[in-house]
Amino acid sequence: MSLLEENQPTDLEQIIGLSRRGFISAGALCGAAMFLGGGLLSRSALATGVMNANSTLLGFDSISAATADTITLPPGYRSSVLISWGQPLQTGGPAFDPSGNGTASAQEVQFGDNNDGMSLFAFADDPNRALMAINNEYTNYRYLYPHGGSPASAQEVHKAQATEGVSVIEIQRKGDGWQFVQGSPFNRRIHANTPIRLSGPAAGHALLRTQADSSGTRALGTFQNCANGKTPWGTYLTCEENFTDCFGSSDPKQTFDAAQKRYGAVGASKEINWHQHDPRFDLAVNPNELNRHGWVVEIDPFDPLSTPVKRTALGRFKHENAALAETGDGHAVVYMGDDERGEFIYKFISRDKINHQNPKANRDLLDHGTLYVARFDGGDSNPDRPKGHGQWIELTHGKNGVDTGNGFASQAEVLIHARMAASVVGATRMDRPEWIVVSPKDGQVYCTLTNNAKRGEDGQPVGGPNPREKNVYGQILRWKTRNGDHGADTFDWDLFVVAGNPTVHASQPKGGSANITPQNMFNSPDGMGFDDAGRLWILTDGDYSNAGDFAGMGNNQMLCADPASGEIRRFMVGPVGCEVTGISFSPDHKTLFVGIQHPGENGGSTFPENQPNAKPRSSVVAISREDGGIVGA
Ligand code: FEO
Ligand code: CA
Ligand code: CA
Repeated sequence: MSLLEENQPTDLEQIIGLSRRGFISAGALCGAAMFLGGGLLSRSALATGVMNANSTLLGFDSISAATADTITLPPGYRSSVLISWGQPLQTGGPAFDPSGNGTASAQEVQFGDNNDGMSLFAFADDPNRALMAINNEYTNYRYLYPHGGSPASAQEVHKAQATEGVSVIEIQRKGDGWQFVQGSPFNRRIHANTPIRLSGPAAGHALLRTQADSSGTRALGTFQNCANGKTPWGTYLTCEENFTDCFGSSDPKQTFDAAQKRYGAVGASKEINWHQHDPRFDLAVNPNELNRHGWVVEIDPFDPLSTPVKRTALGRFKHENAALAETGDGHAVVYMGDDERGEFIYKFISRDKINHQNPKANRDLLDHGTLYVARFDGGDSNPDRPKGHGQWIELTHGKNGVDTGNGFASQAEVLIHARMAASVVGATRMDRPEWIVVSPKDGQVYCTLTNNAKRGEDGQPVGGPNPREKNVYGQILRWKTRNGDHGADTFDWDLFVVAGNPTVHASQPKGGSANITPQNMFNSPDGMGFDDAGRLWILTDGDYSNAGDFAGMGNNQMLCADPASGEIRRFMVGPVGCEVTGISFSPDHKTLFVGIQHPGENGGSTFPENQPNAKPRSSVVAISREDGGIVGA
């Protein structure tokens, strides 16, 4: 039975380990070292190696930037491929067909493409078994079809839709390494045509009803699944990001209302081109289908027959990830970013408290609660590393101007058009909020602001946590509530790092903050993850041209930071043309799993096979130490 289906008991607690790892209790927060205490060493201190001597958290030396078509790691580390796009999930299932002639039905039972965010769920009764839920964000037509272009038939669209969504797989530790378990009964695909329930305040609203579903509660599919979250009650959250890109219109005179425009609807689909062969994605035929996507979806990985649930109480926007925390009095907190230039950062607080003793009691916890959006104040007085304060503003119908007079007839409309409600209350337009993570040590919340070429235009003022015009490098923002409670309305913020290129730009702003050096420079921070020891892992989705503003930065990479000292060291460099995204750890932290997405997106890679003419394939990679120690220590 599913944890997520009403009125049905579950044996979940008997088979999973409900870890509170990464989950911040009020007690931990109250006793924590307070915000902004660490400080950052100067560039000269970094250059002289003072930090290496001081940092006890980072147990490896920063590696050089690289442009090789492989995984590059510090000495003493090794990697292996856990699973790759197209690998059959079931015993005897259809094998990956590198010709591109594989069918849609084959893809529906194979590992999806372009893996992104992922979470590991340990079995309580066996330390050598775990499930992983892994997002499959999109696909690369260059490699999906023999012709390498946009889909030209309903069958080809169906195949593309089958590459996206989520893959749930079992993994087992055999010898000293973790391996994918083909044929496990837990292995599952959820894709763009999987039945999904809509729940929460917006479920059933007229804007969510279609010809195929007059109830407005039974959606079909999840797609463009970017990053993720893991709840304390053992479920997986997958976040629908660039859903609008999958829609188009067959009507050359199609016009869009303000809400459709705000979410990016355009008549001419981008190269994704689903609407020409699947009328569900044709806005001239099914305009409300657009409103049924852009949500956070909850999945019970331990029940392969469960129906995933879209949680409308968390608001509709281009969701990047969902970071869980807990208020001082026991309510669930979900921090979320909306990845678009000039969009916002949100926080949801559940109405009810988390029941840590009885996981199934939390099955509908995310259906009731309050959504907030962040306003960041101050920050202009310290150009090197701005800091300031801020406020969470409630997005509840009838409050703060979010009302009928401003075009919102109900709370359902506030949630469906969350972006517009956030604009009404004066939230701060950010430099593309990507991942948000919560420190297990002191409760500080970190958010990657990946880049924003339009900062300084389009009503997006330069300043505060978005300090650079035409920001091509990105920065990492962090904040902490003043009383250490995630339920509080006010917080203090600073920029943990301002990325830049000190070999091209001699000083701030484009040389980056003091903790950026020629040895660790990177651009476009995106994924992040904290390990149990409090190391902050930073994954990039940046410009890998290795030229101009990005000279010397090489391929996309993974770095590791000491949050207290501010030191950042480069830990891994990915293969040619990839994005590094998605991170999780084995329970003993001796294996780090990281995602290599779209290697060779523009050609030039044969990762991971590394054979002449091999087709590059997105993969999850397992990294461990040759001496069996903790990764990063
Ligand atoms: Fe899918 Fe914003 O990254
Ligand atoms: Ca991302
Ligand atoms: Ca990105």
